[in-house]
Amino acid sequence: MGGPNRIARELEAREIPCFHEEKLARYTTIRIGGPAELLVRPRTVEELSAVLDLARAEDVPVRVLGAGSNVLVSDAGVRGIVLHTRALDEIRFEEGGLVQAGAGVHFPTLVRKATAKGLRGLEAGVGIPGSLGGVLTMNAGAYQFSIGPLVHEVVAVSLSRGPLTLAGDAIDFRYRASSFGRDLIVAHVRLVLAEDEPRAVRADMDKHMRFRKETQPVGVKSSGCIFKNPEGASAGKLLDELGLKGFRLGEARISEVHANFIVHDGAARASEILDLIDIVRTRVRKELSVELETEIMTWN
Ligand code: EPU
Repeated sequence: MGGPNRIARELEAREIPCFHEEKLARYTTIRIGGPAELLVRPRTVEELSAVLDLARAEDVPVRVLGAGSNVLVSDAGVRGIVLHTRALDEIRFEEGGLVQAGAGVHFPTLVRKATAKGLRGLEAGVGIPGSLGGVLTMNAGAYQFSIGPLVHEVVAVSLSRGPLTLAGDAIDFRYRASSFGRDLIVAHVRLVLAEDEPRAVRADMDKHMRFRKETQPVGVKSSGCIFKNPEGASAGKLLDELGLKGFRLGEARISEVHANFIVHDGAARASEILDLIDIVRTRVRKELSVELETEIMTWN
């Protein structure tokens, strides 16, 4: 395909960082994944917009990668462009509890910095290992934390319409989904947080992190919760009740700590994770008549 090569030449001429056949395993929290044909790392909204214009002109598919905490990339990797948001990493604290942060900011880092300034609202989300853009797009959540009510405005780039600013209340946040996604890519976000005592916010953040460590596998190679919770139930609890904790397929296994996580020690392939997902889903369908839907995104 000539498209990605022509795009790469154009990006190189404009000095926008891009990398050929870059292995994605190092950019995902599960540490699995083959190469991206072209990994591009824009540093500004203008660069992000330029990349999307080129992709549209050449009709090359674009996938967005943040912290890689909710994506399973196939062993063969992906063709087209992977837009890595990591360099959109500015954090700016403004008056009145407003914080502006780039899509590539590591969410736990943002939580810690806001907490140190005595800004309240994010502390229950400290254990979410995503990027800010990913948290918005997926409407990630933890305990009582949800990003939606804190969003003042978002600057995003639309593949079809270019850069635009959206007011927080114009954005549709649903369970693990939002109005962002294929056409609309988050560039940066302005959040509005409540002002409080740093020490009080810190105590709450630490409490949430401790609880998460007790109930979820932390610091291991995983993509977080594999399945969405079905209406009125917890997928993890269903899998646990079927005795699936510790169940293995090759190098991949269901976590012993929380049954909605698949973990491995570093040697699993994407195909093993996918096969394990299929086996588990089939068992839940047969034995409980429940259809589980994956929460993670699979790229191939
Ligand atoms: N449970 C078990 N066994 C398990 C897992 C859970 O018995 O193996 C029980 C728990 O003891 C609890 C209930 O099931 O009584 C619910 O579990 P938990 O509080 O862990 O919540 P969850 O519904 O399994 C959701 C999110 C998590 C988020 C937690 C905490 C989904 C799919 N998962 O999990 O999000 O961290 O609540 O708010 O919505 C993620 O999206 O990647 C994720 C980890």
